[in-house]
Amino acid sequence: MSLLEVRDLRVRFGRRRPAVDQVSFTIDRGERLGVIGESGSGKTVTALAVMGLLAENAVVSGSVELAGHAITALPERDLARLRGDLVTMVFQEPMTALDPTMPVGRQVAETLLLHADVERGSARARVIELLAEVGLSDPVRVAAAFPHQLSGGQRQRAILAMALINAPQLVICDEPTTALDVTVQAQVLAKLDQALTASGAACLFISHDLAVVSQICDRVLVMLEGRIVERGTVAELFSAPQHPYTRGLVEAASLDRIEPGQRLPTVAGLLDDPAGES
Ligand SMILES: Nc1ncnc2c1ncn2[C@@H]1O[C@H](COP(=O)(O)OP(=O)(O)O)[C@@H](O)[C@H]1O
Ligand SMILES: [Mg+2]
Repeated sequence: MSLLEVRDLRVRFGRRRPAVDQVSFTIDRGERLGVIGESGSGKTVTALAVMGLLAENAVVSGSVELAGHAITALPERDLARLRGDLVTMVFQEPMTALDPTMPVGRQVAETLLLHADVERGSARARVIELLAEVGLSDPVRVAAAFPHQLSGGQRQRAILAMALINAPQLVICDEPTTALDVTVQAQVLAKLDQALTASGAACLFISHDLAVVSQICDRVLVMLEGRIVERGTVAELFSAPQHPYTRGLVEAASLDRIEPGQRLPTVAGLLDDPAGES
């Protein structure tokens, strides 16, 4: 049995077309799966469904099974226990994930103390150790700092430490480096890659950038308007993209290497050019 099994997931908000529709995929233990698609294609909603964190107004059908737990059927009390323990999530906006009134190290330690049976003293040691592991060169100083005293890259590393500290089986990363500049982004991704390898955690990695996904994942889903339009290995998508949208992504990813900041083609752009040849 896979670690995560998503079957025929559909999420609707009101009477609009489903935000996510007919979405099925699995992630094995220790495996990394990328989800790529433009803004509004349903990537975050899919991740929130796996976390059991969808908004009250979401109407959900299909099933999400994580390590044998039927996420879509569990009460909030049970979901809260799984989150932070079995599955954690790194959100796109680093500031929203941190409490501005509390030193960063204490926040990481609280996450550990909440879920694991450890002494305060050893929790602090573990926090410093993990902050160093995610590439913070002065972990003691970072632990004592408030979020606003850190750079964006330092904050996102601290959040990574928070996501990893309870050795979850699945780490969901939702555009974790989008807010960072290209150099810092590459460093954070390298640390994420190392940390996942060291812990053996599986990862669902969301991005709008195929070049970024290819640094973490082997296998990729391509989403467009709530549906999976293509799936394959990074190598397969780069060498033989089938869907016009995927062809656009591949083109943008290769252009990115020459010209940082190149934007992805929009759906509207694809409709102008259905063959995706240009
Ligand atoms: N709580 C909500 N209420 C209504 N619509 C929502 C809600 N959350 C997401 N949506 C809609 O679902 C669609 C998919 O959103 P999302 O998964 O966030 O896209 P992205 O691929 O950019 O992460 C969008 O059209 C978005 O407006
Ligand atoms: Mg999103």
